[in-house]
Amino acid sequence: MGLGRTIKLRNEFAIGFKFSEKSSTTLFQRHANLFETSSIHLRKRIFAPIRTSDMNTLENAALSSFGQKHLLGIAELSPQEIQFLLDRANEAVSVSRQREKKKSVLRGRTQINLFFEASTRTQSSFELAGKRLGADVMNMSVSSSSVKKGETLIDTAMTLNAMQPDLLVVRHQSAGAVELLANKVGCSVINAGDGAHEHPTQALLDALTIQRSKNSIAGLTVAICGDILHSRVARSNIILLNALGARVKVIAPSTLLPAGIDRLGVEVYRDMNEGLKDCDVVMMLRLQRERMTGALIPSIREYFHFYGLDAKRLECAKPDALVMHPGPMNRGVEIASEIADGPQSVIETQVEMGVAVRMAVIEILMENRGSNG
Ligand code: CP
Repeated sequence: MGLGRTIKLRNEFAIGFKFSEKSSTTLFQRHANLFETSSIHLRKRIFAPIRTSDMNTLENAALSSFGQKHLLGIAELSPQEIQFLLDRANEAVSVSRQREKKKSVLRGRTQINLFFEASTRTQSSFELAGKRLGADVMNMSVSSSSVKKGETLIDTAMTLNAMQPDLLVVRHQSAGAVELLANKVGCSVINAGDGAHEHPTQALLDALTIQRSKNSIAGLTVAICGDILHSRVARSNIILLNALGARVKVIAPSTLLPAGIDRLGVEVYRDMNEGLKDCDVVMMLRLQRERMTGALIPSIREYFHFYGLDAKRLECAKPDALVMHPGPMNRGVEIASEIADGPQSVIETQVEMGVAVRMAVIEILMENRGSNG
């Protein structure tokens, strides 16, 4: 498998939509078949996952730079590039813990956060990250923008591009939309979540949380539980965790598993107690009811009964297993409050790592733009 190979994007998770430039903001033809080929083409760099025995080699082969202009997905990163970003993010953690949190490395740079979907954690941490690095940060409120008057995604992006930003951070409800936009603008673009496709900074902050707690990801067993079908977080995490040598299990009812999920290098379980056995990390996912088109679960009560994480069920995992959740969290739906707030929970640490990861990614991309870019 070679680098730079161009393949058609296969919307393995993208219950999202076909993206066509002619009708760029509105939604497109719905995919009935999750493996149907999309009309957009993404340059994917395909890498073999790292084996546990390769981890010394990975550490020895540490990169001295990260050559990409954008961060659009984990699928485009090599294990070495992922580790490079994590190492820089690890350094950024201490900046946020200091009294003086502000650096000036991005002085004169302009960052625009363009969120077409709601966000608490991602938008606010990108804003803090940019400000802590000294950039001018603007949050574009789509609800009060001309998008509401029918302006297309591309026209909105080109308008902002004309204002000479250095960085656009974009969240959009359609898979592939952020890449399409990145191909149109002159500045760097970070994908802050595109439909059910990817959420790369979430996977990086999850990995940083795990690495800091368990020292290494290689050799760990990680269970990702719940609404896998609609989850860009699951997709980015599966790719990243496999790349860094973890054993990845997914646990969900059949209705919340995408067809062909086993081809992504995961073990599939439909029973929580069985799937949680021997797990070092339990990653819970929110039920994304806003993306569901039919009744995929009988009831919330029944879902929690079979797939919710409570104290008894957590006993099936290792005693020191980490409990994670990307947020927003629905207590009593996928996770019991006693677990979300319990001693094994690292959910607040994930939020803290989110700022560090975003600082690292922004700073690296801006270094790549150089003094003239
Ligand atoms: N995890 C995450 O993306 O949360 P927000 O939707 O609040 O940004």
